[in-house]
Amino acid sequence: MIDKYINKITQGDCLAQLKNIPDNSVDMTFADPPFNLKKKYTSYTDNLEFQEYLKWCEQWIYEMVRITKPTGSIFLHNIPKWLSFYATYLNQFAHFKHWISWDAPTAPMGKSLQPAHYGILFYTKEPKGAKINELRYPHKRDRKQGYLLKDYGGKKDLLHPFGPLVSDVWTDIHRIKHNRKRDPHPCQLPIHLLDRLILLTTDENDIVLDPFSGTGTTAIAAKRLGRKYIGFELDTEYVEIAQKKLYQTTPNSKIGDIWVSFYLSQVVTIRHKDWEHLKPYFTVPTPAKAIDFKKAVLKDKRWIPKTDLQEVAKKELEDLNQQTINNGNRVFKQLNFKDL
Ligand SMILES: C[S@@+](CC[C@H](N)C(=O)[O-])C[C@H]1O[C@@H](n2cnc3c(N)ncnc32)[C@H](O)[C@@H]1O
Repeated sequence: MIDKYINKITQGDCLAQLKNIPDNSVDMTFADPPFNLKKKYTSYTDNLEFQEYLKWCEQWIYEMVRITKPTGSIFLHNIPKWLSFYATYLNQFAHFKHWISWDAPTAPMGKSLQPAHYGILFYTKEPKGAKINELRYPHKRDRKQGYLLKDYGGKKDLLHPFGPLVSDVWTDIHRIKHNRKRDPHPCQLPIHLLDRLILLTTDENDIVLDPFSGTGTTAIAAKRLGRKYIGFELDTEYVEIAQKKLYQTTPNSKIGDIWVSFYLSQVVTIRHKDWEHLKPYFTVPTPAKAIDFKKAVLKDKRWIPKTDLQEVAKKELEDLNQQTINNGNRVFKQLNFKDL
């Protein structure tokens, strides 16, 4: 039964579609549902009554846990308000691991504290035996000088040459803010955010399912990391966007045989246990304390996946267009990616 959904984005209501997925059959489920914030989706009214919204959420959350394997994990992305209700519900039949705070300024709301993070709830199906990997990300550095931002005192030579372990506060992944940088969808997530969750809890060929696929971010991340994917999405236009992008995606986010996450030509997430295999591909700062001003860099740019290089070109182009606007120069024609 599950086979007909594998490596596809299926159009339809996720509640009906999830019922077709057998118990204990998926390695990781991730949901980024509408937040009930009156967003302008094409085929969905994002404005339910409080209890109606929560009741609806409980139905698909229940299905997500049911279909997840005993070794698997469940992730729910939303604003903290809704996550507090999700957690109360999930605590009854799944196991809390972390509340990941994704540092991303949100729209000004209310008159108390300014919201500055989205949450990602991380639960496992069983209390023990879940597949979970330690992850590392590059050291944070001063943009201009390249020095480490954190003061490690005299202990710099003891630092990991690639970067620290990933904690439950993520400040290094930015939201896609500008309309011109994303597909015609009001809240597309960055692919390397999903890469990180996938590297955290799955292995090659594992199955990743997203019931609110949108423009296919989860599926694209899964495909480029050599995982299988299942996506459900109500809106036919978003399904088409996702399918088109998936067609252009290849499972090539790796160095040698090791799956890693790339963003703008940089390796941004690795699994801790993979470092010994990855190390020969990097020029590691020597002596060890040179890490203060030198980062571990890939020895050969040809190892960067071509699609990622295209992303860099796109970003440079966007910056160039933006600069032209900021300088007040008259722009006769905005460059397009295909002009490159
Ligand atoms: C927050 S967006 C997901 C965005 C996605 N993570 C991305 O990066 O593109 C929520 C999506 O859920 C879809 N949706 C809403 N209700 C749905 C339902 N009952 N079944 C399937 N999809 C639904 C909306 O059309 C929208 O694309």
